[in-house]
Amino acid sequence: MTEVMSKISIEKISQSKITEVDFNNIVFGKQFSDHMFVADYKDGKWSDFKILPFGKIEVSPACAALHYGQAVFEGMKAYKNEQNEVLLFRPLDNAKRLNISAKRLCMPEIPEDIFMEGLTQLIKLDSEWVPKTEGSSLYIRPYMFASEQLLGVRPADEYKFIIFTAPVNSYYAEPVNVKIETSYSRATEGGVGYAKAAGNYAAALYPAKLGQDAGYQQLIWTDSVNHEYIEESGTMNVMFHIGDKLITPNLDFKTTLAGITRNSVLTLAKDLGITVEERRVSVTEVINAAKEGVLKDVFGTGTAATIAQVASITFKDDKYVLPKIEERELSNKLAKMLQEIKHEKIEDKYSWIHKI
Ligand code: COI
Repeated sequence: MTEVMSKISIEKISQSKITEVDFNNIVFGKQFSDHMFVADYKDGKWSDFKILPFGKIEVSPACAALHYGQAVFEGMKAYKNEQNEVLLFRPLDNAKRLNISAKRLCMPEIPEDIFMEGLTQLIKLDSEWVPKTEGSSLYIRPYMFASEQLLGVRPADEYKFIIFTAPVNSYYAEPVNVKIETSYSRATEGGVGYAKAAGNYAAALYPAKLGQDAGYQQLIWTDSVNHEYIEESGTMNVMFHIGDKLITPNLDFKTTLAGITRNSVLTLAKDLGITVEERRVSVTEVINAAKEGVLKDVFGTGTAATIAQVASITFKDDKYVLPKIEERELSNKLAKMLQEIKHEKIEDKYSWIHKI
């Protein structure tokens, strides 16, 4: 038993809520598994590791995260293989990215062994909640926030790290219509765009709502200076299959999240012999490709959505309809490969799977 593990206290729920879940009709993020892992940061160290029944937590009205936004999170998923074993996909990468986000928001890092042990114990306890059905999974939400009662603007001295989980289906029921956003920005150079900071998502809600009111399920974010270069799509990274290349915005400007699905998809595409380019992608390049008929595919990548194909792109007043889904050979193939790796149906040659 590791040191962290021996320190986790466990309080089990008296009656599981699993019978209330219709696993064939799961609504994303509305029903939660029985337990959660909680750790507290105080006096410069993490302690008080516990697994509790999922439920309300007490915070002060002066909790710093509620006022000044010191809050970061992660998204990851668990799956099952044929033998009913629980498999996590690249969990250590999520732990590392959480700490990159925490650092940018002046929050303490969560040691990887605490992250992994808390996660492992929690998922073991709630393993029945990992759906067996193809296309479903257990969404895992690790997050950290400043819990100190504090009115002054400074990095808080107290934090909570929590992991809870929820069985989910796919995030988008069908391909999305997107609009290239040219007024609002998600991120700016020197800002927090590369961090999975709660505030990034809050800032995106209003422009996203304007887009939704106009009939677009998602926006494609562009650079905040001239709205000339593409950055992300909604809460996902975005990829363009143009001619025989797979092209995606590079991460050098720190305005884009370093997606774990993004990295996995690029790796698999290279394995398929596709030329992958990570570089600046201008709106003009994408629109010209659409006009010339060489824009074969556009899709978002993210934990929740995995691969979300784009049905159409609108730029200013012009709508460009993309090829039929059955013609999207590359994204269909990548989605299948990823799915099969996650369920251990094909070889996991990069050791992405972490068995619980
Ligand atoms: C994820 O893909 O895990 C995300 O963070 C998107 C989420 C906001 C639903």
